[in-house]
Formats: sequence, structure tokens, C-alpha cells
Amino acid sequence: MVISILTLFPQVFSQVVATSIIGRAKQKKLVNIRLINIRDFSKDKHRSVDDRPYGGGAGMLLRVDIVYKALEAARIKDLKREKVFLLDPAGNLLTQKKIREMSEFNHLILICGHYEGIDERICHFIDEKISIGEYILTGGEIPAMVITDAVVRLIPKVLEKPQSTIDESFTEDNQLEAPQYTRPVEFMGLKVPEILLSGNHAQINKWRSSEAKKRTGKSEKRGK
Ligand SMILES: C[S@@+](CC[C@H](N)C(=O)[O-])C[C@H]1O[C@@H](n2cnc3c(N)ncnc32)[C@H](O)[C@@H]1O
Repeated sequence: MVISILTLFPQVFSQVVATSIIGRAKQKKLVNIRLINIRDFSKDKHRSVDDRPYGGGAGMLLRVDIVYKALEAARIKDLKREKVFLLDPAGNLLTQKKIREMSEFNHLILICGHYEGIDERICHFIDEKISIGEYILTGGEIPAMVITDAVVRLIPKVLEKPQSTIDESFTEDNQLEAPQYTRPVEFMGLKVPEILLSGNHAQINKWRSSEAKKRTGKSEKRGK
């Protein structure tokens, strides 16, 4: 898979793409993360990329012509399953289901806005707007990192144990995972549930399924 990120600040991605699971996936060539600097597509001597909004208003907007040029440069002709996402607080809310859909593509192009955002006409050249939540960040870089992290771990062979992506929250019926424990068996009077030490896998599975349902129920109530 190729993930192309269009940004004014490629340097902020350096640690994220080089560390831990994403770093190893890159080394094994399971994913290619391309950082494309939108500023490289500005032609004026100050390399400016933004301008004041027509009609007035606070802040600056990224220019559609410059972002368009960066987008066209990011496209890869031979890759059939390519999809362009604009990070935008007004977009469709990101979920694990959406991440799974994204992981089926060969090429994801993520466009990060900054300042007050991007000239609205960019919407004619993208496939979907994505929001990572109902709050405003300074730029699309953190949302692009969120998507990259969540998608890369679903690429086959990235995780050593593929079962990890099946037995986890938001997978089956959007259910949460059951609580998990490791050593020590007792910490400050808090004991690991007896059933998990029993070695009876049928009973453990039953317990986990019931705990997962309880957790999911509680979390749904919290959201209301
Ligand atoms: C300060 S925000 C612009 C906010 C915009 N003026 C508004 O009121 O909706 C700058 C950029 O950060 C990104 N961004 C901010 N919050 C986001 C969110 N919750 N989800 C996805 N992208 C976000 C977008 O790329 C956006 O263009």
C-alpha cells in the first residue's frame, strides 16, 4: 500500500513513520509513506500557499490551485484503487469501519489543511472528507497520522499476530474488547479474575464474551 500525505509540515511526521510498528512496516516495504510538501508547488518567490478569504474573515486559506497541483503530482497512474481524502472537521466521522474500508485501497492520498482550511473548490477534486472528531485542530497533520497508524496495522503481515486485529474493539458488532490482565497476579490487593487463571478456555471465552457485552453496554450509556 502507498499512503501519500499532502502537508505544509512534512517534518512533523518523521518520528511517527519511523517508529515501532509503522517503522517496521516501512522497512519491510509493506507500506510506502510519501510526504509531499504542498509548498513545493507554489511558484512565487516567497513560496506562499495561502491568501485572504473573499468576503473577509479571520485567517488565511490554502489556495486551491496550489493544493490541486500537489494532488495531481501525488496521483500514481498505475495504481487502480486510489482514493483521495481531505481532512476536514466537517467530514464523515472516522470509525474503525471506515479504517477497514481505507485499508482495502492500494493508494490513499490524505490532504492536510492548515490555517483556516482550504478553498472550498478543492472538494471537486477529492473523493471524501474525513473528520476525526467534533473539535478543531490547527491542521490536518494529526488526523493524517491517526489514519496512517490505524490503517497500517491492518495491512496483512504488519502485525505479527493477525488475530490481534480480529479480537479487538469495534470489530465484531462494534463491540468493545473484554478487560485484559498480565503479571503480577495480585497488585495492591487487586486480583486477576480467577477464571483467567483456570486454564479452562471454554469458560474463559464465555467470561470474555460476557465482559465485552457489559463494557459495550456501559460505554453506549456514557455516550448518551
Ligand atoms: C483550524 S482547521 C480549520 C477549521 C475550519 N475553519 C472550520 O471552522 O471548520 C485547519 C485544518 O485542520 C484540519 N482539521 C482540524 N480539525 C480537524 C478534525 N477534527 N478532523 C479532521 N481535520 C481537522 C483540517 O485539515 C482543517 O482544514
